[in-house]
Amino acid sequence: MSATIYPVVFDSPVRGTAQAWARVPEEPGPEKREQLLQRCERLLHEHDAVLVAHYYTHPDLQDLAQATGGLVADSLEMARFGARHPASTLAVAGVRFMGETAKMLSMDKRVLMPDLDANCSLDLGCPAPQFSAFCDAHPDRTVVVYANTSAAVKARADWVVTSSCALDIVRHLHARGEKILWAPDRHLGRYIQEQTGADMLLWQGSCIVHDEFKAFELQALKAEHPQAKVLVHPESPAAVIALADVVGSTSQILQAARELDAEEFIVATDTGMFHALQRQNPGKTFLPAPTAGNAATCKSCAHCPWMAMNSLAGLARVLQTGANTIELDPALAARARVPVQRMLDFTAAHKTSAAAGSLVSGIGAA
Ligand code: 13P
Ligand code: SF4
Repeated sequence: MSATIYPVVFDSPVRGTAQAWARVPEEPGPEKREQLLQRCERLLHEHDAVLVAHYYTHPDLQDLAQATGGLVADSLEMARFGARHPASTLAVAGVRFMGETAKMLSMDKRVLMPDLDANCSLDLGCPAPQFSAFCDAHPDRTVVVYANTSAAVKARADWVVTSSCALDIVRHLHARGEKILWAPDRHLGRYIQEQTGADMLLWQGSCIVHDEFKAFELQALKAEHPQAKVLVHPESPAAVIALADVVGSTSQILQAARELDAEEFIVATDTGMFHALQRQNPGKTFLPAPTAGNAATCKSCAHCPWMAMNSLAGLARVLQTGANTIELDPALAARARVPVQRMLDFTAAHKTSAAAGSLVSGIGAA
């Protein structure tokens, strides 16, 4: 399989400007694509495997997951589904932290990923040793980390949250009088701090995709489409969030598109989302929120370079060979599982908006 390999440069609070690598697999032609789809479907069946895909992955992977009894979802639902599905192998199309979370919740299962180098700038920008030192310096604070982190960082946390439940969980901790140490996404942290009034100390990480949405250009697009509702993922900068009608996780953005009384939407999140948005709302129009870039592999083109590493060919290969399994040290996994399970128990008990199926507490307006 040939692929375009290119560097992804991003700013990290502890390492300055850092660089990682991403490989975008070649797009198969129609005949090859059909063959790959059939091969993946057969291999999933033969290996007692289920495919769990994130909304930002290639439409072919999302369609295959749906057609074969798997799941296309946000990071919270991906974790929940993998843990309760009876298949002995979980094939995770997404980024590394999603595979690690699936593994720590199902240590008895085999967890495969099409490409183990599919990472995340939030995870890469929050190395465990430095994060641990940050926690040690603030022992009076409850440590809340975003799911987009390594197992080692989760192992240091009291709570793990995703963007669909972060507001509810921090609100709950704030009501108990707890002060919070938050990592790694500074935009999501700032938004939650503003919404809840909690005392939060923020790690300064960011998502290279959402960080690139531009408020000035969004304002201009809004002026051209005055009827359009603006849906924004909370990893976006404050000035972009300020222009939103709805701020929410990927599943909450989908929910808003289904439920709001509007025909046109401007969407500030990864362009992979447009597949599910359009499929669920065939009569509605979705416009991408502006970034500074316009090339397929540009870091600001609103498509995550690591999500783009997932392909049908990669999935077929790992199902065939058993390569790319996620391995976690059992002691580390046991420690990391505690705050993840706390999140799953909390969301099950409190029915956040993602689970409740209507526009309730988890979705915020700017
Ligand atoms: P969600 O939890 O909203 O799916 O987001 C995951 C992610 O990586 C967003 O960039
Ligand atoms: Fe990480 Fe951003 Fe990619 Fe999501 S879109 S996986 S936060 S780099």
